[in-house]
Amino acid sequence: MRIVLLGAPGAGKGTQCKRIVGKYGLIHLSSGDILRQERTAGTNLGKKAQGYMDAGALVPDKIIVEMMAGAINKISDSGFVLDGFPRTVNQAVELDKSLASAGQKINAVLNLEINDQLIVRRMAGRRSCQACGAVYHIENLKPKVEGICDNDGSKLVQRPDDNPEVVANRLKTYHQQTEPVVAYYKNNNTVYDIDANKSADEVTAAIFENLDALVSV
Ligand code: AP5
Repeated sequence: MRIVLLGAPGAGKGTQCKRIVGKYGLIHLSSGDILRQERTAGTNLGKKAQGYMDAGALVPDKIIVEMMAGAINKISDSGFVLDGFPRTVNQAVELDKSLASAGQKINAVLNLEINDQLIVRRMAGRRSCQACGAVYHIENLKPKVEGICDNDGSKLVQRPDDNPEVVANRLKTYHQQTEPVVAYYKNNNTVYDIDANKSADEVTAAIFENLDALVSV
């Protein structure tokens, strides 16, 4: 199964992807996580992406398409769920072309729908583990011990692009450049709209209901 998970920044893509891969045995490919790893490693790609990410803008398509094509090629015969990619119609077209050349296609698109006010609250309270990437929220999804990752005991940190000014830019970028991707997929694929304003468990249940039906066909 090859899935694309769409949604605004902070809609819960990363949170839900971790649950989807756990249940369906898929590989989670997050463009944001890959870019952050490249930055931490100080690679050329990481250096090129840095300014765009810090400003809440999109990294140019050419860089992203090449990076994600490489990541997908490495796992070509496995099922996967894409998180944060594609984010422009051009990226979606390039992804379709690349999959088609290997005789593959996207089987389902999950579209997390959420209102902007809630996004701002979710980003302000997000804390992440730098070691394992686990994501928490100071009110909604608390770790057992405040500020410490349940998985490995590492310190939880706030992402630098979660400050209010950058969040506002990320939201603007989403509405202008990524919302058209939803329309692109609605014309070409099966898209499941999911109400992401609900609790994380309710969102997971709605996703599993749709994916279970897909798997059983
Ligand atoms: P990226 O890392 O992809 O960030 P994003 O899309 O902005 O998404 P987030 O990771 O911020 O949020 P999420 O939806 O995963 O929410 P989460 O589960 O953490 O991209 C970062 C940057 O990289 C971009 O700005 C861009 O510069 C660049 N980039 C990446 N991909 C690119 C591409 N394809 N093209 C060009 N540039 C690209 O949840 C958020 C918080 O809410 C957490 O605290 C969580 O615990 C909590 N939460 C989650 N669900 C719920 C719920 N249902 N109820 C209550 N709380 C919840």
